[in-house]
Amino acid sequence: MTDERPPTPEDRWRGGGCPADLLARRSFLRGTVAAGLVGAAGGSLLGGDEALADSASGDGARTSAIPFHGAHQAGIATPPQPIGAFASFDVTASGRAELTDLFRTLTRRARSLTAGGTLPKAPPRAAPPDTGILGPDAAPDDLTITVAVGATLFGRYGLAARKPAQLVTMSPFAHDDLDPALSHGDILVQLCAEHRDTTVHALLDILAHTNGAMRQRWRIHCQRNPPRPDGIPRDWFGFKDGISNPDTTNTAQLNQLVWTQPRTTEPVWATGGTYQVVRIVHFDLEKWQEVPVAQQERIFGRRKVSGAPMYAVSDNTSDDLDPIYTNDPQGLITPLHSHVRLANPQTPQTASTSSILRRSYDYDRSPDVHGGLDLGHAFCCFQRELDTYITMQNRLEDEMLVPYISPRGGGYFFALPGVRDDKDYYARGLLT
Ligand code: HEM
Repeated sequence: MTDERPPTPEDRWRGGGCPADLLARRSFLRGTVAAGLVGAAGGSLLGGDEALADSASGDGARTSAIPFHGAHQAGIATPPQPIGAFASFDVTASGRAELTDLFRTLTRRARSLTAGGTLPKAPPRAAPPDTGILGPDAAPDDLTITVAVGATLFGRYGLAARKPAQLVTMSPFAHDDLDPALSHGDILVQLCAEHRDTTVHALLDILAHTNGAMRQRWRIHCQRNPPRPDGIPRDWFGFKDGISNPDTTNTAQLNQLVWTQPRTTEPVWATGGTYQVVRIVHFDLEKWQEVPVAQQERIFGRRKVSGAPMYAVSDNTSDDLDPIYTNDPQGLITPLHSHVRLANPQTPQTASTSSILRRSYDYDRSPDVHGGLDLGHAFCCFQRELDTYITMQNRLEDEMLVPYISPRGGGYFFALPGVRDDKDYYARGLLT
């Protein structure tokens, strides 16, 4: 089923999703339109079978619902919404039965919240069933709820033998300064929507319904900035971020790079899921502001105003152009230790560890405990092999950006396969 709605101005700044946008982007990641618009197993790439409706209700919230059911969860290959939140939990369920109840409850709430609808009325003297934050008719507002599990969940509940093959608890990299209170967790819930009240409402609802079975460990609210002036959003460093990404309309590409496949070393239940990495990375913006723009560009390996590769000289050059390194073995144009060149060196040796699906957000938690700025990236990516991310991150430990960033939290998770229909629930394959 195709997404037939016309592109809206907001689609332009999602930077990783709108089919029209992606067709013009990055030749080596491009795929066919026809193949891309039909998802795996005959379902929609958006995670279900229905087309999106798209309009705004009187209060500005979107009346469109992103389908909940499908082979894959929404919130991964679906276009990133402007508002995001990552909430990590420690599971406190007393046994396997309670754990199953927890996933069933999470499924029911996610199915209901993403669909929106009229709130049930409570008798006048009873406690209300909902916070009422979204009014009497809750608009779906493009809400997606994406549930992932951490390695620590598998050590309990007799699940050790069913752990995804590469899932481990994140170890600190060379320059990490991980805060345990901002790292890891048994379950990660990613919430994305058009408006912040929608994600807060969903989170409060989930907390209320799962109380006693899981406990909050850490949480971060974040956003994607609007386009300045157009195209891909800029991060807090002022660079267009999210340009080079797999084509999320291309099923073959997603199967190769993102979705866990059957008949691999992964457990059967994991098919259709994917490894999710979240890294909470603080930016030292005061220090960055002292760096001349020409040097900032060398650090990232892209032009600041246009987002174009380093060989571009005009501010009007398109960011659709691919970086090219074959004529630049010494890194005179794009430094060898620039961010893009280490992330994707374009060599035969690194070809299999250079593509991940990035779907990051920006956060502001200022002031920090010292009264200073705390702005940064809630870096988020999805990949079929966790080792792809780890190898890429190890290359980036030598990048010129290192003095300006400080990774402080996050973790490794496995985003569960999609919930297929009304009878299915998150992790059913894992638990039965
Ligand atoms: C947290 C701070 C980070 C910032 C501010 C940042 C920013 C950027 C920017 C501005 C670009 C160039 C434009 C684009 O293609 O999107 C880029 C590209 C990229 N980044 Fe990052 N990034 C960060 C972290 C990471 C991490 C942790 C990874 C993975 C380990 C990563 C992987 C990539 C990849 C694969 C590309 C595309 C390279 C290419 O194919 O040309 N980034 N990033």
